[in-house]
Amino acid sequence: MEARGSKSYQSLAVSGDNSEAQPERHSSRILKPCVLLVTCLVSVLLVFFVGTHRTPSWELLRPVGAGAGIGRKNSSSEAPNDRLLGGLLSPEFDDKSCLSRYQSMLYRKASPHAPSPYLIRRLREYEALHKKCAPNTHLYNESIEQLKSGRSNGTMECNYVVWIPHNGLGNRVLTIVSSFLYALLNNKVLLVHIPSDFTDLLCEPFPGTSWVLPSDFPVHNFLDFDKGTPQSYGNMLRNKVIDDEMLSGSSNATLPAYVYLHLPWYYDQWDKLFFCGDAQRLLRRIPWLLLKSDHYFVPSLFLLQEYEEQLRQLFLERATTFHHLVRYLVHPTNVVWDYVTKYYRAHLAAADETLGIQIRVFHNFPVPFESMLRQVINCSLSEGILPAVNLQERAAPASKTDTKVKAVLVASLFSGYSERIRDMYAEHPTTTGEVVRVHQPSHEERQHTEQQGHNIKALAEVELLSFSDALITSAWSTFGYVAQGLGGLQPWILLRHTQSDLPCRQAMSSEPCYLMPPPFPSSHCSKDHGDAGEAAAARQYVRQCEDELGGIKVFD
Ligand SMILES: *[C@@H]1O[C@H](CO)[C@@H](O)[C@H](O)[C@H]1NC(C)=O
Ligand SMILES: *[C@@H]1O[C@H](CO)[C@@H](O)[C@H](O)[C@H]1NC(C)=O
Ligand SMILES: *[C@@H]1O[C@H](CO)[C@@H](O)[C@H](O)[C@H]1NC(C)=O
Ligand SMILES: *[C@@H]1O[C@H](CO)[C@@H](O)[C@H](O)[C@H]1NC(C)=O
Ligand SMILES: *[C@@H]1O[C@H](CO)[C@@H](O)[C@H](O)[C@H]1NC(C)=O
Repeated sequence: MEARGSKSYQSLAVSGDNSEAQPERHSSRILKPCVLLVTCLVSVLLVFFVGTHRTPSWELLRPVGAGAGIGRKNSSSEAPNDRLLGGLLSPEFDDKSCLSRYQSMLYRKASPHAPSPYLIRRLREYEALHKKCAPNTHLYNESIEQLKSGRSNGTMECNYVVWIPHNGLGNRVLTIVSSFLYALLNNKVLLVHIPSDFTDLLCEPFPGTSWVLPSDFPVHNFLDFDKGTPQSYGNMLRNKVIDDEMLSGSSNATLPAYVYLHLPWYYDQWDKLFFCGDAQRLLRRIPWLLLKSDHYFVPSLFLLQEYEEQLRQLFLERATTFHHLVRYLVHPTNVVWDYVTKYYRAHLAAADETLGIQIRVFHNFPVPFESMLRQVINCSLSEGILPAVNLQERAAPASKTDTKVKAVLVASLFSGYSERIRDMYAEHPTTTGEVVRVHQPSHEERQHTEQQGHNIKALAEVELLSFSDALITSAWSTFGYVAQGLGGLQPWILLRHTQSDLPCRQAMSSEPCYLMPPPFPSSHCSKDHGDAGEAAAARQYVRQCEDELGGIKVFD
């Protein structure tokens, strides 16, 4: 893990300047390379469909009694009247201030996963704590005074995790969720710094209060915190500002009032000691933790004995952790939601089924346009997600009204993929008689991480993808992880060709992968630092990811 080094991960972090290999668009004979591919696939698929006539595998995914809400085509009786998502959401909000909060469920497939009663109880307790400790309350002011004193006097009544944004929208949502779970496990309060490119994107998640870090927060330079910051946990260990006695709890030296947790992909072996039992116990006594990460670090929390029992009760199905928490925390504002629902009604609502395809090519792992297109089509056809086309015929112009329509929503920085898939279905009829319509809300050619307008569109596309009946995502894409979590979908992941000959593989759950975990098992928690605190039993629930062999993921 260590040796494989940072280089291959670069693009994940520096997604801001990420650009895909330019597709060779509009080459004179658009369909030419496709024809061969499709011919061979058609023959394979004819055998497939005629021979086995099996249920397309995405049908199997639809939970029994999956409701069709008012946003979905069939607005009949079985719309689940579950606006609170089985108790996950508090009923205390004003609907109009954030329409998506109680409306999302009308557009998504009903989740077959109920939150545990313990999770529901802990969320309500958290909301009460957050209200009590919210910015500018008396208790918040006390903790701020402590912070200004520079020293910790042990835990205060209100203790905080301050989230520092880092990298693109997908990374940010994953780290908000991870930081929230970390705060919840430690009875700390999560406050978030909202930079200008992130304003008006997400609604407040906790009723009657705010999670926004006030602008007069006394640590002024926290946005500059990085690997060289002396207040980082890793540097304090390296420089023995935090020593073994402090870690073992046998010292009465005073602790600092705040610690910076440096957890982005380029963290070092000292920073990674955060994921050790003694660190967790020490940090619990520090009132202010400032956290920067760009990955879903929850799987490493599952490995800690500290949290084993709590996590077991919170998530009876462990692999629903992200699904529940992201639906609890992430609610687009009315500006975003308006875009989402308008687009949905215009392009997707009339379809019988929708397929989301999220294509992301990372610049450190370039894939030629034609190869990527072939992989996407191969995956869709061989997994029975999209019907094959019959090349011997031209598509008939008018179709009967009872024709089954599949809508495909493509999310990609480039328009080339959707254009080619659209052409394929426009020119030839499908072997099943279904009609396939292809849509792409936007394409920007580059990812502009730092722009609010871009983030609004990106969040809207994540939401639209989460409404799909089936989802195809790119390996390593944090954007795809968020969509699958919100939708509770098990995506087909487009595997990297270095990893497998298969075009794609279906994920076991909607859990994201922790792409850059500390060493596993936790050999890095040295004996000098006391008990590594790894939960032996938890190891069976944390395993290699489908899309990255060096990554870890929570399984049931
Ligand atoms: C909706 O589904 C029900 C059965 O679940 C069916 O009877 C009804 O015709 C459907 N309505 C529409 C508009 O498709
Ligand atoms: C907390 O401090 C802020 C500013 O320092 C002040 O405006 C506010 O009234 C204080 N809150 C309480 C409850 O004292
Ligand atoms: C620390 O706590 C002690 C007793 O709990 C108290 O007397 C002292 O004033 C506190 N110091 C600060 C800086 O808050
Ligand atoms: C801790 O404080 C006590 C008295 O408050 C003192 O006797 C003891 O030596 C101190 N221990 C260390 C390790 O400094
Ligand atoms: C599609 O995928 C199958 C299974 O991996 C492979 O055998 C086949 O060669 C692929 N077809 C194309 C045209 O890439």
